[in-house]
Amino acid sequence: MTIRAGALSSSDLFRADVLAGLSLPQKRIPSKYFYDAAGSRLFDQITELDEYYLTRTELAIVRKDVGAMAARCGSACLLIELGAGSLVKTRLLLDRLDHPAGYVPVDVSGEHLRDAAAGLAADYPGLDVYPVVADFVRPFELPPVTAARRVVYFPGSTIGNFEPTEANALLCRMARLVGPGGGLLLGADLRKDPAVLEPAYNDALGVTAAFNRNLLTRINRELDADFDVDSFRHRAFHNREHSRIEMHLVSDTIQQVRVGDRTFAFRAGESIHTENSHKYDLAELTRRAAGCHWRSDQVWTDENGYFAVLYLTAMS
Ligand code: SAH
Ligand code: AVI
Repeated sequence: MTIRAGALSSSDLFRADVLAGLSLPQKRIPSKYFYDAAGSRLFDQITELDEYYLTRTELAIVRKDVGAMAARCGSACLLIELGAGSLVKTRLLLDRLDHPAGYVPVDVSGEHLRDAAAGLAADYPGLDVYPVVADFVRPFELPPVTAARRVVYFPGSTIGNFEPTEANALLCRMARLVGPGGGLLLGADLRKDPAVLEPAYNDALGVTAAFNRNLLTRINRELDADFDVDSFRHRAFHNREHSRIEMHLVSDTIQQVRVGDRTFAFRAGESIHTENSHKYDLAELTRRAAGCHWRSDQVWTDENGYFAVLYLTAMS
């Protein structure tokens, strides 16, 4: 029997992904499941950490160059943000956009998105805000808004959380979403010294560890599981071959974990791979985008070359 993904509820998909991922030789769970309401709050705390240079650096680039970014988006655009989170950078952009036709924040974290969108709508009374709770790698509906141009905003280096082949597919999907002449404002974390990268995912306060472990708390609550959360240790390290930070949850002991009516055995030291955060070379990222007919029009970076924001135009 073939089960069409569209026929499954989001909780069925969560269960299916967790059961399939825990059945692999290297256990893994997709990182999008970090983001329940608690996970989104923990991510917001991560963005404030001294070690987590990403948000601070991207925000500084946006503050410096938002005029040029808004000019690239043009008048009366429909702004579609993927993985919208708390909409902090978005506000800077919205402050400068010329009469946007509307704003569509898309996120899997439903409660968090609704709160953030309501706050934004209250602060921008002239703006039409259309929050969409959806997994953006799957088809979702856009509001029927007439706009001069569609622009996808994809900040935060969320693109780095996808495998390179998935990132390619996502870039092509975004090109189809905006159509010829549409835009993509993309934020991406760049390659750098692991001595900078590794602390960003191993903060002294343990917020990233709590973010990682919250995934198990969520599975216990939503999927009737019995993970002993404290017996899993946070591990994050730079994988040079793949140019990425990997996050894992490592079992301290030999143990069995039940998820619904299934049981999974863990050896002491065995891990669940919970996230990849790829760090891009700018030329490589531009090449990948060009493979989906994106033309790179402008790139903004910080003085250390840590992070880049690109404006790309869909050519077909
Ligand atoms: N854009 C914000 C938040 C980045 S955190 C910023 O730049 O700071 C990543 C966000 O993407 C989270 O809010 C998470 O819930 C969302 N997200 C991750 N994978 C997703 C997916 N497949 N579909 C929809 N939203 C996703
Ligand atoms: C959302 N994403 C780009 C973050 C990252 O850096 O990969 C998620 C995160 N994981 C650990 N810390 C932050």
